Amino acid sequence: MTIKKDHSTKPFLTDVKTLRARARQNLDDGAVTSTYRGDPKKTVEILQSVLATELVCVLRYSMHSVAASGISSEGVKAEFAEHAKEEQEHAMAVAERINQLGGKPNFNPEGLLTRSASQYAEGENLIDMIKENLIAERIAVDHYRELIRYFGDDDPGTKVMLQGILVVEEEHADDMHDLLVAHEGRPMLK
Ligand SMILES: [Fe+2]
Ligand SMILES: [Fe+2]
Repeated sequence: MTIKKDHSTKPFLTDVKTLRARARQNLDDGAVTSTYRGDPKKTVEILQSVLATELVCVLRYSMHSVAASGISSEGVKAEFAEHAKEEQEHAMAVAERINQLGGKPNFNPEGLLTRSASQYAEGENLIDMIKENLIAERIAVDHYRELIRYFGDDDPGTKVMLQGILVVEEEHADDMHDLLVAHEGRPMLK
């Protein structure tokens, strides 16, 4: 296959002198420079909801890691605890990004659930907990895929961060699915 090169659509590159001069202007805006094509306010607003989603996931997994009990729950507890730690890392990455874009990360517990896409469900037993986490991960995966498409080339920084989180959420969903299969004794293949 030959790849046709269309020079007319080649992205325009700014010369170094202009880049340097431009960077000196509006220093208060930090990482938000004139080439930022997104709407920083809107991005911060979206990321506040992402932050809330991650924080709710930290809380739910932490609660489950403590509450999971019964035979063969040790492995599940460890998995829940590991996920809680990773959700915390996601929350911090998102909070840092909000800060870079000139916003103030909202860690306020008041209204946290309303801002979050995922829910805080305790679950009655081990299987319930695994199911609730699987549901939450599937919500997160869908949410991140949509956001990645939304940001596209307008905000590559935010997009790359979300892509990194998405990969981990997909692993989380897969882990929960594996646990469900193992504990429900369902066949692996449909
Ligand atoms: Fe996460
Ligand atoms: Fe997750």
